[in-house]
Amino acid sequence: MQTIKVAIAGFGGVGRTTATLLLQRRERYRQVYGVDVRLVAVCGSRAGLADANGLELSQLDELQPTLSGPEFISSSGAEVLIEAGPSDFRTGGPGLAYLRAALSAGQDCIVISKGALVHSGPQLRELAQASGAILKLSGAAAAALPTLDLLEHSLAGCQVLAVEGILNATTNYLLDAMRTQGLDFAAALREARGGGFAEADTRNDTEGWDTACKLLLLANFGLGADLTMDDLEVEGIHSITAQRIDAWKSQGLVPRLIGSLTRVDGTIRASVGIKTYPLSDPFAQVNGKNKAIRISSDAMGETIAIGCGEEPLATAAAALKDFEHILLARATRPAFMVEHSA
Ligand SMILES: NC(=O)c1ccc[n+]([C@@H]2O[C@H](COP(=O)([O-])OP(=O)(O)OC[C@H]3O[C@@H](n4cnc5c(N)ncnc54)[C@H](OP(=O)(O)O)[C@@H]3O)[C@@H](O)[C@H]2O)c1
Repeated sequence: MQTIKVAIAGFGGVGRTTATLLLQRRERYRQVYGVDVRLVAVCGSRAGLADANGLELSQLDELQPTLSGPEFISSSGAEVLIEAGPSDFRTGGPGLAYLRAALSAGQDCIVISKGALVHSGPQLRELAQASGAILKLSGAAAAALPTLDLLEHSLAGCQVLAVEGILNATTNYLLDAMRTQGLDFAAALREARGGGFAEADTRNDTEGWDTACKLLLLANFGLGADLTMDDLEVEGIHSITAQRIDAWKSQGLVPRLIGSLTRVDGTIRASVGIKTYPLSDPFAQVNGKNKAIRISSDAMGETIAIGCGEEPLATAAAALKDFEHILLARATRPAFMVEHSA
C-alpha cells in the first residue's frame, strides 16, 4: 500500500484538531483511497515533533523545543503540508516561508491561514504550477461554507458573472443582534463577547478585513484574477447605528456585510460593504453565525450555499476535504510528478 506522509505547521486550536481528525480517519483513507496516511511532523512557533513512521494521537502533547520552521518541516519527508499558523495579510505571516519552501519542493499544500495567500497569492500559485504541486485552500476561504469548490467543480465550464457572500460569521451575528434585539454596535459587541461569540479584538472582522481577505482568495484562486488588497473598497459594520438598523427594519430590509465580485468588461471588481435584502431574499434568512454565498453564472443561473459548523472542527474538516481531493488527484497524477514531490 502506498504511504502518504503529512506534516502540519501551526499547532494551535485548528492545527491540533486537524491532526486528530486526520489520525481518526486513517482507516477511511486506507479503505477508500488505498493509502497509508502517516502524520510525520507537527510544529508550533518554537516546538514540534517528528517521526518518519508516523505520530500517534497519544504523542501530540509531547512537543520538543526548537523543532520548528520550514527546514524542520521539509526534513520530515512529508509529501503534503497543512499550514495552520497565524494569519497576517500585511506581511504574509509565518505561513509564507513554509509555503514557499514546500511548493518550491513540489509538496502539495493545504492552507488554512489566509495571510500568505492574500499577501503573495499569485506568486504561490506560480510556484505550485512550476513544481506541479497542488495548492488547496478551502480552510482559508470560508471553511465549512463551500466556496472555491463550487467555482472549481460544481460550476465548471460556466462563466461566473457575479459572486456575493456573507463570509464572516462574527459580523453576521452582530448585525443580527442589532436588528433583532434593538442594540447599538457597542452593546451588540459586549453581548457577543459575553456569550463567547466574538474575540477580544474583533476589528479584523468588524472593519471588513476578514471578508475582504476571503473575497480576494475567491477572486484570485476561484476566478483567476490578480487582485491585491489595494484593489478592494472595504467598508465594515462598526459605524452602523441603531437608527439606521431601525430605518431598514421599518422598510422590511435586512442588512448584511457582503463581499461582492462582479465582472465588468472582462475585469473582476471586488468590494466589501453593507447591502440590504428584502425578507423574501434567501440572504435575509442567513441568521446568526451562518455564512452564505450566491454565485451567478451564464449557464446555471443562481447557485446558493449556506453553511455553518462548530469551530475548530469545521475548519479542520474543510482542510481534510482538500486532503481527499489531493488523494484523488495523486491517484491520477503521472508517476513522474508524484515521484518529484516524494
Ligand atoms: N479558529 C478557527 O475557527 C479558524 C477558522 C478558519 C481559519 N482559521 C485560521 O486558522 C489559523 C489557525 O487558527 P487557530 O485558531 O488554530 O490559531 P492559534 O490557536 O492561535 O494557533 C496558531 C498556531 O500557529 C503557531 N505558530 C505561530 N508562529 C509559527 C511559526 N513561525 N511556525 C510554526 N507555527 C507557528 C502557534 O505556535 P505557538 O503555540 O508556539 O504560539 C500556534 O500553534 C489562523 O490563521 C486562523 O485565521 C481559524
